[in-house]
Amino acid sequence: MTSLILLAAYLIGSIPTALIVGKVFFNIDIREHGSNNPGATNSLRVLGKKAAIIVLLVDVGKGAVAASLPLYFQTELEPLHIGLIAVVGHCFPIFANFRGGKAIATTAGVLLVSNLWMLLVAYVTFFAVIFVSKYVFFGSISVGVALLIFSLIEPGNDNELIFSLFLLFLLFLHRTNIKNFLSNNELKINDNRLKDD
Ligand code: G3P
Repeated sequence: MTSLILLAAYLIGSIPTALIVGKVFFNIDIREHGSNNPGATNSLRVLGKKAAIIVLLVDVGKGAVAASLPLYFQTELEPLHIGLIAVVGHCFPIFANFRGGKAIATTAGVLLVSNLWMLLVAYVTFFAVIFVSKYVFFGSISVGVALLIFSLIEPGNDNELIFSLFLLFLLFLHRTNIKNFLSNNELKINDNRLKDD
């Protein structure tokens, strides 16, 4: 049962929502536009608000469904751990040549099921950092920082190692954003100038 749940979580996470929405409704490959990232932020830039909301909801839903599997099948597995397998699937999807998103929406779905306090702390931080900096990638990386700090200070929370690795994972996924920021080429949230225009 354990390996089936792990596999199911990875496959659920692997559903390439932004790619499907881009291809089906706009006949474009989102990975060739804007930041090239198949996620909700780039969907907002390239495909518009409605498409971005669909991508966001489905990507959050993938994390929530995957994290619910241990509860549904009444196993001892931790919803957080299984949900994070879906996050890996979202970032390295088998259905899209392992070119996926940057973890943030799917992680929100995982925390929605596994730890509401962590969800609140991380995503209030996310929106606050974006509000101040106008850069989504800063907000995304701050999610990792907030989760690590929360796991260090919350009594009984023994996920420090997981969230240390998660922060490194986020930094790796956002390496292009960091490079672009350092060379003044990173797009702000309100920036309509697309790199390929
Ligand atoms: O959550 C995605 C965000 O951190 C970066 O997206 O499209 O600007 O690379 P993007």
